[in-house]
Amino acid sequence: MDIKTICVCGAGTMGAGIAQLAAQQGFKIILFDVNPVMLAKAKADIENNLEAQVNKTRITDEARLSTLKNLGFIDQVNACIANVCIEAIVENIEAKVCLINQLAAINNTDTIFATNTSSLSIDSIAEKTVCAERVLGMHFFNPAYIMKLVEVVEGSKTHKQVSNAIMTLASQLGKTPVLCKDFPGFIVNRVARHYYLEAMKLVEEGIADIETIDEIMEASGFKMGPFRLMDLIGMDINLSASNAVYQALGKPERLQPAALQKQMVEAGKLGRKTKQGFYNY
Ligand SMILES: NC(=O)c1ccc[n+]([C@@H]2O[C@H](COP(=O)([O-])OP(=O)(O)OC[C@H]3O[C@@H](n4cnc5c(N)ncnc54)[C@H](O)[C@@H]3O)[C@@H](O)[C@H]2O)c1
Repeated sequence: MDIKTICVCGAGTMGAGIAQLAAQQGFKIILFDVNPVMLAKAKADIENNLEAQVNKTRITDEARLSTLKNLGFIDQVNACIANVCIEAIVENIEAKVCLINQLAAINNTDTIFATNTSSLSIDSIAEKTVCAERVLGMHFFNPAYIMKLVEVVEGSKTHKQVSNAIMTLASQLGKTPVLCKDFPGFIVNRVARHYYLEAMKLVEEGIADIETIDEIMEASGFKMGPFRLMDLIGMDINLSASNAVYQALGKPERLQPAALQKQMVEAGKLGRKTKQGFYNY
């Protein structure tokens, strides 16, 4: 399949990063969000990121300009016509299904619909769409334009040609794609649950504070401590992943979401995106 145009749906933390990455690799990008404020923020963030890359001589000014030319910012779903649509909207099955069905109605019959969900099973989304054989997971990590790993997840109805095309696309984007089984949390988010949950238990039990835990984990070789990482990911997204893995595995006590996690979400302290999380930004 010749992929030239990619529509990225959702211009939040992940969508903006994926759009920047793919535009830098020469793809024509439509970045779609229902919220014009998020689109404006994504545009400003991408422009700043590219300028920073020029200043660090990582890319030329020509590359910056051609990346910007590859990007279109839209708030109308009717303009989302592409070879591949990657959705990175709110972590909610109904919202994702509704969007994919809207996109399927206006796109060609060979357009692929990839979901960037971190915690929902692909089948739980795909089975409610009109195009299950063209739906699969394409799970990027944050920041998408830096992190190398992409988990590619086939649902039970995903056509092999579709997953092959997305494995190839991920490689063309300079990523390391790994084919994963369809299970909430896939591989990384399941393994990483303990990194977050045990760290929050240490705080809840008064054994150590967040700064100390982050410092210790970073000194022991992790790139980011658990609290700095949760702030980067977003507490709402992290809580959704905790809930999904906990439910799917039959509610084992070791994976019970932390009270601290819920408190942070209820207080609207979602991390970097709200400028307040475990740290202030
Ligand atoms: N944050 C992470 O570290 C991370 C990592 C991997 C995957 N994910 C997944 O990526 C997805 C997005 O996460 P995020 O952190 O970027 O969220 P976010 O809250 O930063 O952004 C979501 C964006 O989607 C937009 N939106 C909501 N409904 C929409 C719709 N129907 N159509 C178009 N736009 C819509 C919102 O306006 C918002 O701008 C989620 O499924 C999440 O699980 C997140």
